Amino acid sequence: MKKLFFLITFICVNIHISVGQPPMGPPQANQQPDIIISISTLNTDLIYKVSGRDGRLYQAYLGSKLGNISDLKLARNAEHLAYATFGTDNLFEPAIRMTHNDGNPSLELKYVSHNIEKTDNNVTVTNILMKDPVYPVEVTLHIKSYSAEDVIEQWVEIVQKEVKPVTVYNYASSMLHFDASKYWLTQFHGDWAEEMKMQENELTSGIKILDSKLGTRAHMYQTPVFFLSLNEKSDENNGELIAGTLGWSGNFQFLFEVDEKGSLRVISGINPFASEYTIQPGKPFKTPSFIFTYSNRGKGPASRNLHHWATNYGIMDGNKPRLTLLNNWETTYFSFNEPKLVGLLDDTKKMGLDLFLLDDGWFANKYPRNNDHAGLGDWQENKDKLPDGLGYLVKEADSIGVKFGIWIEPEMVNPKSELYENHPDWILKLPNRPENYFRNQLVLDLTNPKVQDFVFNIVDGMLTKYPGIAFIKWDCNRMMTNAYSVYLKDKQSHLYIDYVNNLYSVLDRLRQKYPHLSIMLCSGGGGRVDYGALRYFTEFWASDDTDPVERVYIQWGYSYFFPSFSVCNHITSWGKQSLKFRTDVAMMGKMGYDIQVNALTEKELKFSQDAIANYKRLSDIIWHGDLYRLVSPYEENRAVLMYVNSVKNKAVLFAYTLHSRFGETFNPVRLQGLDPSKTYKIQEINVSSEGMRFGPSENGKSYSGDYLMKIGLNVGSGTALTSSVFEIAE
Ligand code: DGJ
Repeated sequence: MKKLFFLITFICVNIHISVGQPPMGPPQANQQPDIIISISTLNTDLIYKVSGRDGRLYQAYLGSKLGNISDLKLARNAEHLAYATFGTDNLFEPAIRMTHNDGNPSLELKYVSHNIEKTDNNVTVTNILMKDPVYPVEVTLHIKSYSAEDVIEQWVEIVQKEVKPVTVYNYASSMLHFDASKYWLTQFHGDWAEEMKMQENELTSGIKILDSKLGTRAHMYQTPVFFLSLNEKSDENNGELIAGTLGWSGNFQFLFEVDEKGSLRVISGINPFASEYTIQPGKPFKTPSFIFTYSNRGKGPASRNLHHWATNYGIMDGNKPRLTLLNNWETTYFSFNEPKLVGLLDDTKKMGLDLFLLDDGWFANKYPRNNDHAGLGDWQENKDKLPDGLGYLVKEADSIGVKFGIWIEPEMVNPKSELYENHPDWILKLPNRPENYFRNQLVLDLTNPKVQDFVFNIVDGMLTKYPGIAFIKWDCNRMMTNAYSVYLKDKQSHLYIDYVNNLYSVLDRLRQKYPHLSIMLCSGGGGRVDYGALRYFTEFWASDDTDPVERVYIQWGYSYFFPSFSVCNHITSWGKQSLKFRTDVAMMGKMGYDIQVNALTEKELKFSQDAIANYKRLSDIIWHGDLYRLVSPYEENRAVLMYVNSVKNKAVLFAYTLHSRFGETFNPVRLQGLDPSKTYKIQEINVSSEGMRFGPSENGKSYSGDYLMKIGLNVGSGTALTSSVFEIAE
């Protein structure tokens, strides 16, 4: 280890430090040499420097891989505290702030040591230990680099060894610094049924914060993702930027501060709002991970880096296939019975889908779940709707050769439930104030170990009793309001953090027992989408809005940060568009159905069966191929994107015309990611039941990759709400 340390530790002397510091004189005779700690991926370097002058850790560089790290000796750029503290001489937003046992509100961090753990040829973790010279407080920065994916993950552990607990007020996962002429921030905000709306703005002096304070369903208004473009706005193939995201399913905060010199610091982590945390002596406080990738070739490579990382590391079973499914939510809502569900099992089979997913409404007896006013928390089959229990449905499904999945919302409770009657102290609600409902429900107190056991046992009990259950949709339909935990007593400010960590510990327990069960993450649509949760979930429900025009934008937004196999898109009856248009839109991600199969005409049924067969044939390219966004719906009246497999002999292209103007014509679209020397045949698939084609005249012909990437295809018809899908094969 020592040898390795010296190999990667470059020692350089006399690098000038200029930020957050008083003016300095010449180096002192007894000054220590600087220490350089470099973290590298295939194309990126993140370099820290321990200053020999003051022993502090500085960020020396973040950007394209340097040919020669020793060039840093020549760099005249400002250097910035890697994890700025509060209370001594830092004049800007700190990464960490705490109060010690004696009431001293300051922290100072000096480098102690670092080590490097190489997990394998691709993954390296660098741990940098810092200590306060006066108080027994240690902070370790952990930086994990994924070389091939060009992704870096950062988190922090804080340990204090004072006599009594200390309180931390800020505890970022990451602090990064940039020195550019301008900064462009792209954020993704929204609401129920309008998730992931993209906005880009220039950052100006002062602070801009993206955050959530919702506790649960925490990402309903703002998904914890951003692009930060440096100097100029970036597009798909040009520009220098980072794409960042926080793996945390609760309140998050990204803080961007441009200082008086035009330097930018980006502080990412749990939202410290109303969340000061007491750290017990000797008990580490660990932050979630900030995950980012740097690209100097625009947003396209940044997305592909994150997709590769998510496939290999970030999402549960990212390399494994997903199940196509028929869901009953939009076709039945709460109103169904056994024969109706058996009919839907048959429909699943008839369509050629893998699984039937039974949604909300199957449970509770004293207060039956016939609408969203009652029953949440009472997870026993409703005897009127399911007299033979779930077991009967699981068996029926098995006998016809489809799988069975089930919806649950185990973190929640309706006041009209036996759970509420029996355990009023298991529920988050303020004393001395009226209860505050959202969707007529309240949040269970997951900080309480008894509630954790309850949630675990509900899911485990169901899976033990019915081992045939092959899929779970785990919903979470409300945020926290009037939140107070009886269990936490005088530590109410721990609630937002402890809730999420305990949710993860329940999910950990479940995953230990059911390591490969497919579980869809859902939160009243896309209200909980992040890489903290996706370690446990195989996919997520992107939005309750399944109108395909809206969906093009929503799915476009998610595609920047999340791979297609994780984004569940269902064909439903929302919107008045053709079945073909709805199908083609759903097909660009993880396709499913939530549609009245028996209302389809014969031609529509045949179209759907063929589309499902096409999807199954091409799903590996769609799920694991490289995504190229070719025409953005934010820029034109159409959207065009394609996926190319790793050996570049197969691709799938999707084109959607969203609106059309009188006389509007579209330019040919140049494809990307193909091999210029290969010859590809262009074949339109999902041809509508009426045989209408909206594809280009190039259909059925063969072209070189060079032609397709330099001249392109005439995709995107002039007719609104039409679409085409092309299989492109060598
Ligand atoms: C919200 C989800 O987003 C929907 O898909 C559905 O499962 C309902 N909850 C059921 O209550």
